[in-house]
Amino acid sequence: MHSKYEIDEMISAKAIAARVETLAKEISEHFADTDKLVVVGLLRGSFVFIADLVRELTLPVEVDFLEASSYGNSTESSREVRILKDLRGEIEGRDVLVVEDIVDTGHTLHHVLHLLEARNPKRLMTCALLDKPSRRETDVKADYIGFEIPDEFVVGYGIDYAQRNRNLPYIGAVRFTS
Ligand code: IMP
Repeated sequence: MHSKYEIDEMISAKAIAARVETLAKEISEHFADTDKLVVVGLLRGSFVFIADLVRELTLPVEVDFLEASSYGNSTESSREVRILKDLRGEIEGRDVLVVEDIVDTGHTLHHVLHLLEARNPKRLMTCALLDKPSRRETDVKADYIGFEIPDEFVVGYGIDYAQRNRNLPYIGAVRFTS
């Protein structure tokens, strides 16, 4: 575990807001005929993104959360994905949008989609704020992607490093100095 690091701004708060607005328009158009869209945020990293995204959606929306285990306090991805907190609501026959902060190896999204598909939703789509395609170890790809980024460890806008920096308004790349 590194102790010292600096954060270099990669995506500004303004650029994020503009992209979220565009994504929300596309999603609202896609689900225009829905009676209610269940927006499922994957905790904890998506909490800021989902808060901004749902406020830009022009659809009836229900918000639910699911927590899958991920990194712990390290920057290495674990292949084993466990569900720590399941949805409160039923999704059978419903329109569902899964919202993820980052698709990295893809194991988390792959596992969550497998789990949710088994519950027979009407439509199941995915939206990730960030995508690191060069790190992918599964064939999963989000339907809506905010930004494609290189293989860098990032923080901010809900995303943490060892439970810090989630409150930064922008996305920054972590540069370890020791
Ligand atoms: P995956 O299962 O490897 O796709 O990892 C997905 C999860 O790992 C994300 O939802 C994040 O919580 C975490 N993660 C992946 N890359 C980063 C990063 O650069 N910074 C912080 N967390 C990350």
